[in-house]
Amino acid sequence: MLTIAITNLKGGVGKTTTATHIAHGLTLRGMRVLLVDADGQGHCAVYLGAERRPDLSGVLMSTRRDTTDPQREYQPVQAFIQRGVRPGLDLISCDPSVTVAESRINGEAMRELRLMRRLQEVASEYDVTLIDVGPKTDLLSTLALLAADAALIVTLPSTPSESMFDMTARLAALHEEAGRAPDVLGVLATQVDGRERLTRTVRDQLRDAGYADIPGIPRSVAIARATHAGKTIFEIEPQSPGAQAYAALAEWIHDRMEATPA
Ligand SMILES: Nc1ncnc2c1ncn2[C@@H]1O[C@H](COP(=O)(O)OP(=O)(O)OP(=O)(O)O)[C@@H](O)[C@H]1O
Ligand SMILES: [Mg+2]
Repeated sequence: MLTIAITNLKGGVGKTTTATHIAHGLTLRGMRVLLVDADGQGHCAVYLGAERRPDLSGVLMSTRRDTTDPQREYQPVQAFIQRGVRPGLDLISCDPSVTVAESRINGEAMRELRLMRRLQEVASEYDVTLIDVGPKTDLLSTLALLAADAALIVTLPSTPSESMFDMTARLAALHEEAGRAPDVLGVLATQVDGRERLTRTVRDQLRDAGYADIPGIPRSVAIARATHAGKTIFEIEPQSPGAQAYAALAEWIHDRMEATPA
């Protein structure tokens, strides 16, 4: 089982759209996928037409270790999973209450590794876990990044170097503090206009940094329309360039997982 964080410190770049589309795209390739929303906006549920619930708050607060707070009884992670959001796709949803969960666990020993530990409880049920990480440097995003083996940095085509620099600095800081951090899987440009791609200079920079050259995702009104309707592009316009681009991305990730089984 591989856990991939979808991340960037910038907001509105297409992280959640990418997380939901990779999740659905991998299930269409036969994989069992768990999508974890680690952003209090709760957009994963919204973009998939699922229920936005305080599930991640429950996951973070109901560990076996917590004996001092009577409101926090142990509950298995399974209790917080929305099953079958799509065939083969389960969701741990999030909502604004997660800030309360964050402050409740703040100060507890080993809190940064809590999400990683809890997801291990259900690891055998899935081929891949995807975590949609919010655009902040708060405890929640730290928990999310430390739970991941790999990170996919999502960027607008205008700011790839900045995104890469900011995220690699964040990951290096995490590694120094916590002794672990996800490997960077690559940098994905989304909302790419027309024939524009990342410029050759930027692609060379990424390659020099050891990052894979991942095919980008076009700007597409259909993609935006799909997410706003609680659907994926695979469901509303499966032949469109946006659908083909996300299918190709899912295939790219699938191939990498086949090449390096966990
Ligand atoms: N390829 C695309 N083409 C057109 N619109 C897109 C594309 N990808 C995402 N969008 C739209 O851009 C907006 C932001 O996307 P999204 O919510 O995925 O970004 P985000 O990085 O998760 O944002 P946040 O930082 O707030 O979590 C949404 O309205 C979405 O529908
Ligand atoms: Mg988002």
